[in-house]
Amino acid sequence: MGNSKKIVIVGSEGRLGKALSKVIPESIGFDKDTVDITKYDDARKIVELSNSGIIINTVAITNVDECEKDFEKAWNVNVIGAYNLGKACKDNNAYFVHISTDYVKNPTNVYAWTKRFSESSVVDGLLIRTTFYFASHWLFQKLLNNEKTELITEGFWQPLSVNTVAKIIYQLIQRNAKGIVEVGSFNHCSMYEFGKRIVMNLGLSDNLVVPVDNIKEGVLKPIERSLSIDTLLFWGIIPPRWEKDLDDFLKNLK
Ligand SMILES: NC(=O)c1ccc[n+]([C@@H]2O[C@H](COP(=O)([O-])OP(=O)(O)OC[C@H]3O[C@@H](n4cnc5c(N)ncnc54)[C@H](OP(=O)(O)O)[C@@H]3O)[C@@H](O)[C@H]2O)c1
Repeated sequence: MGNSKKIVIVGSEGRLGKALSKVIPESIGFDKDTVDITKYDDARKIVELSNSGIIINTVAITNVDECEKDFEKAWNVNVIGAYNLGKACKDNNAYFVHISTDYVKNPTNVYAWTKRFSESSVVDGLLIRTTFYFASHWLFQKLLNNEKTELITEGFWQPLSVNTVAKIIYQLIQRNAKGIVEVGSFNHCSMYEFGKRIVMNLGLSDNLVVPVDNIKEGVLKPIERSLSIDTLLFWGIIPPRWEKDLDDFLKNLK
């Protein structure tokens, strides 16, 4: 593989990992079958293999129910795993890019808290807080199955498709961006507005989305999830409006 610096995507079989692998075809991917980031030695080997290049950590236990049920696993993967990669990058002068979530702004569950703690793993690299949707996202699946879905009319969300987020992450890396950058759509919406646009766009029944001001079932998820895109604009990147990005995404889903 030569001595040049490499771009490594850790978690390359995950949703964001796959999207990033398409955007950065020259990257090398590692996932759970080839590496366990909860072990420092595995993290160090990846960084060495990259020749102190660029390490993008997309690994996490992202299922909020699983995180509630198995705190130890969530802590080990989300926090210790990120620390291992961050330390290995620091020790080897590699560029560490860690992905976090808009949930950390208002943590209400184990997933959100572990992601918040994971952020200290970034000492001199790039910390991205983001939010994204993908074809297997629960909301698309429920609506496409014609299931009535309660959606909150309160709160601010700045959703982008996973492919758009991947492209923006690569643009930030190309600019050698460091520090905290929040990556969301230019404007915000509620989950209800988002759902309404999906049914309108796909020609589904309007009655499928039911407006509510509170969701009482399941693990508590933050309603208030707004991101600040100021730093993204500073790096010269203007994210799309959520409506435009969703319409483009749905064109490929149809
Ligand atoms: N999904 C969202 O809506 C969302 C929104 C905002 C931010 N984020 C953040 O974005 C990042 C990527 O999310 P995603 O949805 O793409 O996640 P994902 O699809 O769940 O992918 C995570 C990957 O990490 C792998 N993995 C789990 N434990 C591992 C370990 N110990 N060592 C190595 N690999 C391991 C998983 O393998 P297995 O599947 O085999 O376990 C999976 O392939 C995460 O940091 C997440 O917190 C996600």
